[in-house]
Amino acid sequence: MRNNPFNHLSSRRKFIKLTGLGAAALGLQQIGCKGGEKPAPAIEGLSNVAEKPEILNPWVPVSDRKIRVGLIGYGVCKFSAAFGFQNHPNVEIVAVSDLFPDRCAELAKVTGCKKTYPSLEELIKDDKIEAVMISTDAASHARHAIDALKHGKHVAINVPAVFGSLEEADKLYEAVKKSGLTYMMFETSCFHEDLYAMRQIYNAGGFGKLIYSEGEYWHYSEKGIDSYKNWRHGMPPQWYPTHSNAYYIGVTDGSFTEVSCLGTPSTMERYQKGNNSYNNPFATEIALFRTSEGGMARMSRSADTPGFSGEIGRIRGQKGSFYGKYEGLEKNLPGLIRPSLPPGIEAGGHGGSHGRLMDEFVTAILQNRKPLVDVAVALNMTVSGIVAHESAMKGGEWMKIPQYKF
Ligand SMILES: NC(=O)c1ccc[n+]([C@@H]2O[C@H](COP(=O)([O-])OP(=O)(O)OC[C@H]3O[C@@H](n4cnc5c(N)ncnc54)[C@H](O)[C@@H]3O)[C@@H](O)[C@H]2O)c1
Repeated sequence: MRNNPFNHLSSRRKFIKLTGLGAAALGLQQIGCKGGEKPAPAIEGLSNVAEKPEILNPWVPVSDRKIRVGLIGYGVCKFSAAFGFQNHPNVEIVAVSDLFPDRCAELAKVTGCKKTYPSLEELIKDDKIEAVMISTDAASHARHAIDALKHGKHVAINVPAVFGSLEEADKLYEAVKKSGLTYMMFETSCFHEDLYAMRQIYNAGGFGKLIYSEGEYWHYSEKGIDSYKNWRHGMPPQWYPTHSNAYYIGVTDGSFTEVSCLGTPSTMERYQKGNNSYNNPFATEIALFRTSEGGMARMSRSADTPGFSGEIGRIRGQKGSFYGKYEGLEKNLPGLIRPSLPPGIEAGGHGGSHGRLMDEFVTAILQNRKPLVDVAVALNMTVSGIVAHESAMKGGEWMKIPQYKF
């Protein structure tokens, strides 16, 4: 039986008085491939500490074992190298892969790895490899994760867990359960400074039941972003819903049970009839969800509205709210400073989430416990968006959402 994630952190908790979370909470997270390289100064009076949490809570190794890892996918975002696996003291990079030989060679070079394979399918046959980081095209995520699990590998994978297919979601869920291996989706919002604080306070009872949450992923893109086999071209916005949905599901580990979603047909070229393979007319979709606690959540995605960009959110509960800072009835709040990182590991992009996601995955394997974003959380974040898009295509019809539990 696995333990809950972050139990290992509880002993590191220090009780502090919360004030504000500054720019991160105001939405100054950077978006796209790179993400914010440096998180905004954090809790007032502790800004220096928040940027260097090791001052309060030094990172403590849980093992001296090295996990043997394979890195797969080095596309537009060059993502397999972005999380810092290659610098983690508990990781040995055994091999890397990309279908394009030049990308594969570059990935090998930047990670200092000698061994390459021409594809994921070849790499996962290597018995030496215990775990893989998959940064391939979203459309292949479910298939690639299932293949890797079948070959006995723990799986870390980028968002979304599946791309538009409810059938693949069920197959992935079954494959993870059957394997008994660690599966973690790298949802970057989960280690944003504000979302991390929300989660700690929620778990300590500082919000009570969440009555209303809002999550947004605003990312204007005039020409669209390049991608392998064009999977991004004209994609339904709510098929990429995890950055926004995390602002409820990543806080509570709850789910959305039903949805009504609206879209506005875009004037952009790639959303016109016949111009994308998804038959999708929308670049903006706004979903209203019923939550598993009986509350409401409004989750938004937009690619055709210029201006402010970000992956942001805020929540309101029976005992308190979080709009950049906690305001509520609870006076003694838990420690809100994000986990420390091993020496040499950068917190990295997307609001300082990259290094922490990677360390969480590695530590979960070493401790044989559930990772922060397990398969159920990943699917609850992803599948609700798939149903939301279906609702938008039906003019906002209320639709039930499949539920996953681990
Ligand atoms: N904030 C975030 O969490 C965030 C931000 C950006 C990108 N992403 C995710 O990162 C992933 C990668 O994004 P990208 O823009 O680099 O994608 P991409 O489409 O540009 O590149 C995918 C790469 O995977 C490789 N690939 C596909 N099938 C393969 C196989 N069988 N074996 C080996 N290599 C294979 C391709 O050759 C290509 O180089 C995506 O899943 C995307 O959703 C997440």
